[in-house]
Amino acid sequence: MSRKPIFAANWKMNKGASETEDFIKSFLSKTQGLNLPADIVIAPPFISLPKLATLLHESNPVDNAHAIQIAAQNCSQFDSGAYTGEVSVMMLREFYVHYVILGHSERRAIFGETDAIINAKIKKARETNLKPIFCIGETLEEREAGKLEEVLRTQITEGLKDISEKDLSDIVIAYEPVWAIGTGVTASSEQAQDAHAFVRSVIADLYGTDPAAKIRIQYGGSVKPANAAELMACPDIDGALIGGAALEPQSFIEIIKNGTPV
Ligand code: PGA
Repeated sequence: MSRKPIFAANWKMNKGASETEDFIKSFLSKTQGLNLPADIVIAPPFISLPKLATLLHESNPVDNAHAIQIAAQNCSQFDSGAYTGEVSVMMLREFYVHYVILGHSERRAIFGETDAIINAKIKKARETNLKPIFCIGETLEEREAGKLEEVLRTQITEGLKDISEKDLSDIVIAYEPVWAIGTGVTASSEQAQDAHAFVRSVIADLYGTDPAAKIRIQYGGSVKPANAAELMACPDIDGALIGGAALEPQSFIEIIKNGTPV
């Protein structure tokens, strides 16, 4: 089963509109003519989405800009109304947003998002055909307590509750061990591969072997140019969700290049 790798830059709360413009101009000039056989996604803060959309799709529709797709870092589970501070999926669609990161451990831990909220957001995203990048992962305490599989199985089962097989085919899973996020500590390729194989087996339990073989599972957590090749060579790892190392164009490009041998 060949799955196209997908590399997504999660900028978190970094880069307003002007820094977004600097990054994109540099990224596009450095990737001109390069063959990068992967889906490339950038998730800026909400406030920078209009600038990113303009740069990628309106000012320059026929060059290599089409290679990059836009993600939001979150969305509301509601359509509209009295939800101060929230952004709806319809608003995101106006800016050519194709993906939305949901269930990130920072949203779970800092902003109290539960599996049920994440499930509601995944359903709302699918109503407008947004593709969720659905994040799951265990804390160090959970791993050390031998609860890795239990935690992942619960997050997957609850997060994907009542999601159809058809909708699943537009979902990307990101396995991100919480202890590896922003810490410089990466899971070893064995640890990552074992977790990815387990995630795929849970999808097989829920949906059958064919959807499980097709779903793309990214690894996230301190991915950098130096470790991308080894991680991406694992049979069940289909790309990466990258925070810190995707803030610089060259470093993001090196990760994609190293992770997609041609
Ligand atoms: P990191 O973040 O690459 O900085 O560890 C990954 C993520 O949080 O998605």
